[in-house]
Amino acid sequence: MRLLVCENYEEMSLRAAEILASQVRLKPRCVLGLATGSTPVGAYERLVEMHRQGSLDFSQVTTVNLDEYKGLGGENDQSYVFFMRANLFDGAEIPPEHTHFPDGTDPDSVRACRLYEEALAAAGRQDLQLLGLGRNGHIGFNEPGDAFVPGVHCVDLTPSTIDANKRFFASEEEVPRQAYTMGMRAIFAARRILLIASGKDKAEAVKRSFFGPVTPKVPASILQLHPDVTVIVDQEAYSECR
Ligand code: F6R
Repeated sequence: MRLLVCENYEEMSLRAAEILASQVRLKPRCVLGLATGSTPVGAYERLVEMHRQGSLDFSQVTTVNLDEYKGLGGENDQSYVFFMRANLFDGAEIPPEHTHFPDGTDPDSVRACRLYEEALAAAGRQDLQLLGLGRNGHIGFNEPGDAFVPGVHCVDLTPSTIDANKRFFASEEEVPRQAYTMGMRAIFAARRILLIASGKDKAEAVKRSFFGPVTPKVPASILQLHPDVTVIVDQEAYSECR
């Protein structure tokens, strides 16, 4: 694992964008695994800038996103499909047919998970998987539990995740209680993993994930076993590790 401690969110975002951009430049027909949430927004902004300046072409890239809220479709501004269009896909001109998500509108969890598993297999291994980090150590929506879940699955979001994500909704009641998420097998299948974390409220999770035992109680800790992981944090997120 490589750990890079940046001064602040801006520097973290720039470093992450540079890694994502070089992946696309070196292999234009690559598969990118992508995350939502507030952490990657700065990196996505940098990528859109590079594209607008003409230095980055996403036309051949395939993307697979980590997760989607169950019950939300792409027209809902809280869905992850909407988020990705607004923050990256539209600006970087990534063709919609090259992008993949679990189908949040499918009420049949078994079918939705099977179809996303098939979509992931068809897309092929991610060349680079971008991850954020939950305050409880989750990656994607792989919440703390008694075992790492290998396949795409439907999760009951934990109170900690509902609390963390309510800032995006009008009220806590509106936060969906379930989500479809990529499982650990597909995350782990990525050739390279890039995890980014920023801010004091991630400090405990960074410490437990990368400086503690590997345990499903801290889902991101499994990344300690992956052969090619880069973790980029800012000073605040690193503050508990000193
Ligand atoms: C989102 C995702 C989540 C977030 C995590 C951190 O697709 O997979 O694991 O990365 O909840 O969210 P933020 O960045 O909002 O703190």
